[in-house]
Amino acid sequence: MQILLKWLVVAGLAGAAAPAQADYDLVVKKNCLACHSLDKRKYGPNFTEILAKYANDKTATQKLVKKIRKGGTGVWGNDVMPPQPQVSEAEAKAIVKYLLSL
Ligand code: HEC
Repeated sequence: MQILLKWLVVAGLAGAAAPAQADYDLVVKKNCLACHSLDKRKYGPNFTEILAKYANDKTATQKLVKKIRKGGTGVWGNDVMPPQPQVSEAEAKAIVKYLLSL
């Protein structure tokens, strides 16, 4: 009984951690880290800055999903984020949700 309980707790924790890990893997796999990092300025704004800017913006998900897939410029300076057509709408949503949860 004790062992079963322990196993359930461990399984539960692993289950809770899995989605965030999957979304992070997406950021890695889709090559976002070529231009972004968690807390350092690379070519694009870092994810900590992005989170700070949009934390209280209720339209952030919609805006950022579009930006990720279509690219754009002018929000953080004159550098251009190229469109990322390899990222599906669902994947972009998962990434934005992950970024805003950091
Ligand atoms: C070639 C470099 C490059 C790549 C690759 C790239 N980005 Fe960007 N990203 C930028 C730049 C530059 C900006 C700033 C654009 C601006 O000022 O409007 C930006 C801005 C953003 C923003 C903030 C948008 C806004 O309007 O505030 C998000 C979110 C973002 N990128 C996510 C991603 C994700 C997710 C990926 C991977 C699928 C990715 N980026 C890949 C260069 C890149």
